[in-house]
Amino acid sequence: PEYGCLSIVVLGASGDLAKKKTFPALFNLFRQGFLQPNEVHIFGYARSKLSDDDLRERIRGYLSLGKGGSSEHAEDLSKFLQLIKYVSGSYDSEDGFLLLNKEISEHEIAKNSQPGSSRRLFYLALPPSVYPSVCKMIRKYCMNQYDLTGWTRIVVEKPFGKDLNSAEELSAQLGELFDEQQLYRIDHYLGKELVQNLLVVRFANRFFMPLWNRDNIANVQIVFREDFGTEGRGGYFDEYGIIRDIIQNHLLQVLCLVAMEKPVSLKPEHIRDEKVKVLQSVLPIHNEEVVLGQYEGYKDDPTVSKDSNTPTFATVILRIHNERWEGVPFILKAGKALNSRKAEIRVQFKDVPGDIFRCKKQGRNEFVIRLQPSEAMYMKLTVKKPGLEMSTIQSELDLSYGLRYQDVVIPEAYERLILDTIRGDQQHFVRRDELKAAWEIFTPLLHDIDDGKLKPLSYKPGSRGPAEADELLSKAGYVQTHGYIWIPPTL
Ligand code: BG6
Repeated sequence: PEYGCLSIVVLGASGDLAKKKTFPALFNLFRQGFLQPNEVHIFGYARSKLSDDDLRERIRGYLSLGKGGSSEHAEDLSKFLQLIKYVSGSYDSEDGFLLLNKEISEHEIAKNSQPGSSRRLFYLALPPSVYPSVCKMIRKYCMNQYDLTGWTRIVVEKPFGKDLNSAEELSAQLGELFDEQQLYRIDHYLGKELVQNLLVVRFANRFFMPLWNRDNIANVQIVFREDFGTEGRGGYFDEYGIIRDIIQNHLLQVLCLVAMEKPVSLKPEHIRDEKVKVLQSVLPIHNEEVVLGQYEGYKDDPTVSKDSNTPTFATVILRIHNERWEGVPFILKAGKALNSRKAEIRVQFKDVPGDIFRCKKQGRNEFVIRLQPSEAMYMKLTVKKPGLEMSTIQSELDLSYGLRYQDVVIPEAYERLILDTIRGDQQHFVRRDELKAAWEIFTPLLHDIDDGKLKPLSYKPGSRGPAEADELLSKAGYVQTHGYIWIPPTL
């Protein structure tokens, strides 16, 4: 191989994240030829005493059927599972990590890797409480010993702390052990096709450049809805709530890409520099511009505290204090147990000045980016209603990915991001200063909620969430289009 061999170590191998996301993503990469059996080995590490085969059986059911027919799939699957070895140990024991290092080294020797050219990727599919101890152990016992073309990289995922102080403490602990270039903080929204597309759409099209500012845009909504509750994750969720689970990370990352200035180049650091500037320009949140909700029945979950003040829904308005965005509300909205499942960005334009069609019009121009499901971008515009009358109607220019790119399978976010970690591309990962700035924005609000100064309103599961959220939206200047719905076109 051109590079030394690659050892991928999934810590927390028998947990939920590993089974549902990490291993399936690795399997998909394997199937597409990105992980070659002659250079890659995968190690699962966890506390339970399991054999290699036990682990393989546990994850087998999560590795989905691909396109290529079942016999091909079965063959791929068994080849992939053979690459996985299990090592058992605790997250703070020297023995466990010494053993892990021994296993990795043996594999490297067997693969004839040049000293120093071997690559070690540690994926922490673990609760963050053990990050510091696990990272210490890796640093001490499991690093690639030489520093030629090889490397050691650490992949971690939120929650990164609960507020500014705890996040900074965690960052400092990890920062003492690893360089920023070795740390990959995943926000899986950055791995979504239409989120990655934002950079291209915004900066490669003359259409948008002159319009993308306060002169033309009335408001921006970034919306996440799920039509199920906290099923099975009540314990985790109750400690964090919807702002820490979705808004402070996923939606805020999307906001950065919508609002940032053009980066100097496509270099990851240039892009991340621009994102940080957006975050640093966000003004303190006004609690009057926040609506919180909690769905009825949330507290019936035995793992949720009976007097929980945790929001399962929130609408928060952010205001960016810079030349481009002064006065334009960025409305971030996320909720569990709502009436639909979707994530989208909705850019609403201002009314046409001196509009001669005003009284006949159905609504404003909007540019909508549907992140999921049914990935699409569509522009809502007013056209003449076809027919003899001179009347107008709201219609759309529609780029629906399912229709336009029929032969393309859109990769899973984790698949793409893991490939980036192997390639050493940090563009779609959260930098330390970015994380800090994100916490700075939300910490005062989160503390007010934790202290019970702000209380969630109750809403019915399967509804739109509290009506007060819609009122806040219209107060912020969002004009809903009545009588128009976009129907994703089908083949
Ligand atoms: C996770 C949250 O980060 O994102 C979950 O912890 C949420 O609560 C999930 O369900 C949503 O991800 P996706 O990719 O399904 O939109």
